[in-house]
Amino acid sequence: MDHSNYVIDEMISAKSIAARVETLAKEISEYFKGTDKLVVVGLLRGSFVFIADLTRELDMPVEIDFMETSSYGNSTESSREVRILKDIRGEIEGRDVLVVEDIVDTGHTLNHVVKILKSRNPARMKICALLDKPSRREVDISADWIGFEIPDKFVVGYGIDYAQRNRNLGHIGAVRFIE
Ligand code: IMP
Ligand code: MG
Repeated sequence: MDHSNYVIDEMISAKSIAARVETLAKEISEYFKGTDKLVVVGLLRGSFVFIADLTRELDMPVEIDFMETSSYGNSTESSREVRILKDIRGEIEGRDVLVVEDIVDTGHTLNHVVKILKSRNPARMKICALLDKPSRREVDISADWIGFEIPDKFVVGYGIDYAQRNRNLGHIGAVRFIE
């Protein structure tokens, strides 16, 4: 099949995302109330828009750090082998940490990242994912906060790409291939 022609069907509007992000930020602020500085670890590159919107609604001082893992490359197939391409810069021992991911799909990425970060002995560590595809899960892991549960469709927008395109779409849409 030729994968160069596709259309994007809107799945979640920019307005719905903004409303959900506000709610998530309230819940996260409530949970971490009183922390002196929350370390927010965004997983590059898909979470960059989400982390920007979410952190601006958080009520406490935050430190922002990033980690990058190996991705799907230019295909829509999940690779089971997760490699750390870029590690966080800061220390998290004894600190409160929020890991921010764009999509939990098979769960391998998050599972790997969480294992590594936990071994550094943070105080509390929680996970917030914008999207969750529970039907695709291969390892037993779930986020503590989820923006939206979605069906098994390949999505783009709001930071999320297909072959490095469409990250700058304001909404989230499903990719549909055409002739
Ligand atoms: P997992 O390791 O299978 O859970 O994959 C998680 C990563 O795969 C996410 O961080 C995304 O970068 C990527 N991914 C999963 N589903 C999609 C999708 O529908 N569109 C774009 N990227 C996706
Ligand atoms: Mg990712």
